[in-house]
Amino acid sequence: MSQDTTGSPAPAAATSAGHDQAPHVEALENLLHEDRKFAPSQEFAANAVATAADYTEAAADRPAFWARQARELLTWDKDFTDALDWSNPPFAKWFVGGEINAAYNALDRHVENGLGDRVAIYFEGEPGDTRSYTYAQLTEEVKKAANAFEALGVAKGDRVAVYLPMIPEAVITILACARIGAVHSVVFGGFSADALRSRIDDAEAKLVVTADGTYRRGKPSPLKPAVDEALSKEGHTVENVVVVKRNGEAVNWVEGRDLWWDDTVEAASAEHTAVGHDSEHPLFILYTSGTTGKPKGILHTTGGYLTQGAYTHKAVFDLHPETDVYWCTADVGWITGHSYVAYAPLINGATQLMYEGTPDSPHQGRWWELIEKYKVSILYTAPTAIRTFMKWGREIPAKYDLSSIRVLGSVGEPINPEAWMWYREVIGGNGGAKENPAPIVDTWWQTETGAQMIAPLPGVTATKPGSAQVPLPGIAVDVVDDAGASVPNGEGGYLVIREPWPAMLRGIWGDPERFKDTYWSRFEAMYFAGDGAKKDEDGDVWLLGRVDDVMNVSGHRLSTTEIESALVSHPSVAEAAVVGAADETTGQAVVAFVILRGDAVNKGEETVLELRNHVGKEIGPIAKPKQLLIVPELPKTRSGKIVRRLLKDIAEGRESGDASTLADPSTMVQIAESLRK
Ligand code: PRX
Repeated sequence: MSQDTTGSPAPAAATSAGHDQAPHVEALENLLHEDRKFAPSQEFAANAVATAADYTEAAADRPAFWARQARELLTWDKDFTDALDWSNPPFAKWFVGGEINAAYNALDRHVENGLGDRVAIYFEGEPGDTRSYTYAQLTEEVKKAANAFEALGVAKGDRVAVYLPMIPEAVITILACARIGAVHSVVFGGFSADALRSRIDDAEAKLVVTADGTYRRGKPSPLKPAVDEALSKEGHTVENVVVVKRNGEAVNWVEGRDLWWDDTVEAASAEHTAVGHDSEHPLFILYTSGTTGKPKGILHTTGGYLTQGAYTHKAVFDLHPETDVYWCTADVGWITGHSYVAYAPLINGATQLMYEGTPDSPHQGRWWELIEKYKVSILYTAPTAIRTFMKWGREIPAKYDLSSIRVLGSVGEPINPEAWMWYREVIGGNGGAKENPAPIVDTWWQTETGAQMIAPLPGVTATKPGSAQVPLPGIAVDVVDDAGASVPNGEGGYLVIREPWPAMLRGIWGDPERFKDTYWSRFEAMYFAGDGAKKDEDGDVWLLGRVDDVMNVSGHRLSTTEIESALVSHPSVAEAAVVGAADETTGQAVVAFVILRGDAVNKGEETVLELRNHVGKEIGPIAKPKQLLIVPELPKTRSGKIVRRLLKDIAEGRESGDASTLADPSTMVQIAESLRK
C-alpha cells in the first residue's frame, strides 16, 4: 500500500503543494482577488439575534461567555460549578459537575413551557407521503422508544448502532438513546455491510436500529439486508435489531433477534421521566475518515456539545423559532445531521423540515417545491448541491416562490465565489425579485469540532463570496506557518484552534493516544484541523481544502488510505494509489491508480467495474472511484514513497510536473503510454 509523499503541504493555494490538496484550484486562486462584500441590510441587522456585543463579551472571558450560553439556552438538572477544566490538556471538561438530559432539553421542557402544539418536524417522504410531529407528539414518541430500548436491556453507557434513512424515527432513536444515557453511533445508510460491521465491533454495540429500507429516485432501496450481512459472521455484540417499516419490502427475519419498531416502540408506554446525566457523559460516537485506513470513532459528550450547537444554530442562522421554518438537508449519518437536525434545532424549539429523498425525484425542482410548500425560511446545504442546481439551470428554481427564504447556510467544503453568487441571487434573491437577498453564512467546522467554528454572523458581518471569514464568538481560530507561528494578514498556512471549545471532541473511542497524535502533536498546544487556510488583508479566513490524505467528495470525507486498503484487499490488486482530483460539481472526485498482480488478467472495463464494486462492498457506494486506471507502475521516490502530486496531474488532465525525484524518471512516460492504449 502506498504512503503519501506530498509530506509537508504548502499552506497557500498559490504554491504547487497547495494545489495538490486544494479543490477548485483555479477558483481558489480567483478567491485571492475576490473583493465583493455584502453588508447586512438595515432591516436584517435591526432584528438580528446575534450582535457584535457577543464578540466583545467572549473576548473578555471566553469560558464565562460559554457559561452564560449554557445557562440561558439549556435547562440543567444540576448547575455546574466551573465552565472549563483544562488542567489535563488535550482532555477538556466543560461545565464541570453539571447534570443535564439532552432529550429533556430538546423536547419535554418545550411542552412544559406551553409549546407542545408547535410543529417540531415536518416530514416529507420521497414518494410524497407526509407526516408532522408537534413537540408534544415527538416527546411521546421518544419516551416510548426510551422505554422500549430499556426493556431490551439497553442501559446507560451501552452503545446503540443506528442505520436508518432520513425519516423521523432516526431523530426519535437518537434522542431516545440520549434520554437513557445510551451512546448512539449512527452509521450513514450509504455505507456497506462491512463498514457497518467494523463500526458495530469497534463500539461493541448492543442494539442496532434500522429500517427495511427507504426510497431512492422513486424506487425502494433496501437497508436491512446490509444489517443481516453485517451480523452474519459470529463474534459480534449485538443482541437485538429493531426494524422500522418504511418501504414495506420483504425482509429476512432472525427470530429472537429482530423486532419490528411497531411491535416494540409503538407498543411501549409513553410515560418516561428523564434524569440528568453528567455534563461529560458520552452522548455519541460518529466515525469519520482520517489519514489512516481505519475510521476514527469521534466521541462527543453532552453539556458542551449541546451548548455550542444551540448557540451557533441560533446566532449563525438568526433563528426566530416562533416564525422560522428551518431546513438542513444533511443526512443524520453525518455530523451536520447530528448537530443541526437531531439536536440544536430541537433544543432551540425550532420547526424544521426533514426530507427523505434525492433532489431530483420525481423532478429537479423538488427542493424548491418543498421550500414553497413549507415556507422554509432558513436553508442549510452543501456547495456540491448548489453546483448541481447551477448545472440544472436557474429556470428550475425560478418556477417556485422562494420569497420565504431569509438566511442561507453552506457547509462541508469550500464554496467557490461563482456558486456563492448563484446561491445568493437565484435562491436568496428569489431569482432577482428581492431587493435584499438573504445573507449567506458559510460555516466551517468538522465532525471533531462538533459545531460551527468559523462563520459570519448574518446581522453583523459584511459577507464575502467564498469565505467563512470570522471565528465565532468564543472560538480561538488561527492560521499558522510550519513552525506554528501566527501568519500575518495576506498570508496562508494551517488552520489551528488555540483554545478549547465546548463542542470539541473528547477523544477517539478506545484510543486516547491516537487522539493526541492526530490532532495535538503537529503544533504545540494547538488543535490541528487538517485544513489549509489563508488570512486576507482584513484578517478574514478563507478555507483552502485539506492538507492531508483526506478527500472531500460532495462534502463527504473519504480517506485515500482507506480506499487504497480496500483496493489491495482484492486478490487481483498488487498496489493502489488514490488521489482526490478537482471536480466541477463534487469538489473532489476519487481517482484510483491500480497495478494488477502478475497472475491477474486485465479484462479492461470488466476489471475496472469489478474493482469499483469491490470498493463499494468494502466501504460503500460513496467511496467508489469515479475513475479507475490500471497502470504498469506508480511514480515512487527512491525511498519507495508514491508521489501523488504526479498522479493528480494525470487525474486532472494536466501535463505531469517535475518527475526528477523519482527512482525511475521514465515511470510517468510508461504510465502515460499505458493510458493511451
Ligand atoms: O476540509 C474541511 C471541510 O470539511 C472537513 C470536515 O469534514 P466533516 O468532518 O465530514 O464535516 C463536514 C461538515 C461539518 C473540514 O476539515 N469543510 C467543512 N466545512 C467547510 C469546509 N471547507 C471549507 N469551507 C467550509 N465551510
